[in-house]
Amino acid sequence: MSAEVLSALIAYFIGNFSTSYIIGKLNGNIDIRKYGSGNAGATNVLRTLGKKAALYTFLGDAFKGVLAVIIGSRLGGEKAALVAAICVVLGHNWPVFLKFKGGKGVATTIGSILAIDPIVGVFSLAVGIISIIKTKYVSLGSVLGIVSLPIFMLYRGGNRLLVSCILALIIVFTHRENIKRLMNGTERKIGQKTEIR
Ligand code: G3P
Repeated sequence: MSAEVLSALIAYFIGNFSTSYIIGKLNGNIDIRKYGSGNAGATNVLRTLGKKAALYTFLGDAFKGVLAVIIGSRLGGEKAALVAAICVVLGHNWPVFLKFKGGKGVATTIGSILAIDPIVGVFSLAVGIISIIKTKYVSLGSVLGIVSLPIFMLYRGGNRLLVSCILALIIVFTHRENIKRLMNGTERKIGQKTEIR
């Protein structure tokens, strides 16, 4: 088995470890995917379970990206690390252990990119954070932050640029319903709570 294939498999299964799902189970035995936006991610944990749980979710999901890239890099250098960056996000978004219903991949993408290219990662993160602060829409900030990745990565070129384009496409795809809601003015703003019944 090549280093790239092994990295891809390991990364996919790391991605399957859904932090938000586990945190939901530990906090009142809820399935986070049945509340709020139905997304297994930090934003939905924030509106459903509060700030602390959301922070842990974000850090856990971002750590998966970092870990997968480090393992990929150790196994096969830059190419395997880049393959791992994509596969950990695929595992997070479409986890076999959760019947392929996972998250939207933002925190995990951030972790992967910070591990691959910290400077570009920080720039994209800044775009995302500033957009969220200005608009109060996490989804819009997420999309703008990750879509800015390939723009910053133009400077690096090569496989990093290619992988950034793939990650940006994945994020736009997973946010397609958010984008529709943003366009028709029904998207939830950060801070809007969801009742647990
Ligand atoms: O990362 C997910 C975020 O951008 C949107 O989450 O729950 O509002 O669909 P949500």
